[in-house]
Amino acid sequence: MISHFSLSSQIFVLVCCTVCGADISCRNEDGEAVDWFIIYKLPKYRIDDIGSGVEYMYLDSSKEGWEMSKYMINSSQGAITNTLNQLYMGKEYKSNTSVYALYNDGPPDLIYIQKYGHTKGALLFDRSQGFWLSHSIPHFPSFPEKGYLYPSSGKFYGQTALCVTYQYQQFLHIAKQLVYLYPRFYNCSVPAAFLADLPQLAQLCADSKPQLSSNKRVQQLFSAGGEKFVSFAKSENFVDDIYTGWVAQELGADLLVESWQRQGHDLPSNCSLAKHTMNIKKIQLPRSILFYSHNDHSKWCVSQLYEDQVTCLGDLNREMGQLWRGGGLICSSNPLIYKAFRQVVDWYIDC
Ligand SMILES: *[C@@H]1O[C@H](CO)[C@@H](O)[C@H](O)[C@H]1NC(C)=O
Ligand SMILES: *[C@@H]1O[C@H](CO)[C@@H](O)[C@H](O)[C@H]1NC(C)=O
Ligand SMILES: *[C@@H]1O[C@H](CO)[C@@H](O)[C@H](O)[C@H]1NC(C)=O
Ligand SMILES: *[C@@H]1O[C@H](CO)[C@@H](O)[C@H](O)[C@H]1NC(C)=O
Repeated sequence: MISHFSLSSQIFVLVCCTVCGADISCRNEDGEAVDWFIIYKLPKYRIDDIGSGVEYMYLDSSKEGWEMSKYMINSSQGAITNTLNQLYMGKEYKSNTSVYALYNDGPPDLIYIQKYGHTKGALLFDRSQGFWLSHSIPHFPSFPEKGYLYPSSGKFYGQTALCVTYQYQQFLHIAKQLVYLYPRFYNCSVPAAFLADLPQLAQLCADSKPQLSSNKRVQQLFSAGGEKFVSFAKSENFVDDIYTGWVAQELGADLLVESWQRQGHDLPSNCSLAKHTMNIKKIQLPRSILFYSHNDHSKWCVSQLYEDQVTCLGDLNREMGQLWRGGGLICSSNPLIYKAFRQVVDWYIDC
């Protein structure tokens, strides 16, 4: 009788896993698995308008462009919540068959420690697959036992987040990039069964710093759906502006950069090297949502020329203090992503 019972419950779990698509992945606005999505959280203070600070626009491969979400970023529904709830709801963070890490240079509640990379994100995967979420929101996401919470400090400025679903093998490459980023893992677990594959991730999780063989690294990544992304990761030892000193030259494209620049610390538009980097000053999203870059904490860039068609989302601002920080960019040549970001550039400073 007892064995009967456990057999039928195993069958139930099996059926549920196939039917409800329980594979760990990025989740769209309706909770369905998607290969990737991007959100643009709108700033509260806009030009001639004040918003709630929790509205956001959503983009994935099934859309034609930015779509205003019907959810708020602090609610229990929506793409980011659905994605992170795979960690929070199932107590997946206690599982010994999956790996997770929440990282942020400014974690929730804890004090700021300067030595880590200026990088924010979350990973969750098992032997099959999982997601890597990279974002710009300080003090986010919340500790696993607290459930999904959005910090009130994250309401004022604009923010972006990129989620990509990867198969297990890709996380071995991602782990190598993370070593350069040197993220502050404030909650993580790398169970024993993963130690042989992911020794450096386990070191980061144990708050030790793995050895580096250079000061920066590029890695191609392929999503579960076959979409190509390129991860650029620099360590604190590469003391330069990641956009001008490296990525623009490596991509061979002039870049328009949106980042959060504080007066007196900002790096000006720079045309000294072969490929130029120019600061965006004003954004216009669909529905005439207009705001200045100083109200936008997101960090992204697009090629100035449509034929170069490259978009990157990442960690670093064009700021003096961040030359000395670890951080990276994830780039894509997807035309839909490019159009979405290139078209919203309203004003930038040429050299
Ligand atoms: C989300 O934020 C808005 C704006 O600050 C607030 O009115 C609302 O109560 C918040 N909702 C939740 C669930 O925290
Ligand atoms: C994983 O957890 C299960 C259930 O708690 C336990 O039976 C199993 O021995 C654990 N496996 C390893 C490799 O630690
Ligand atoms: C997450 O980190 C916080 C702060 O160190 C700690 O209080 C909490 O217990 C951690 N949670 C887990 C699940 O490790
Ligand atoms: C432009 O950027 C390069 C690379 O970061 C730097 O070496 C150079 O000093 C900058 N030029 C100006 C005028 O700021």
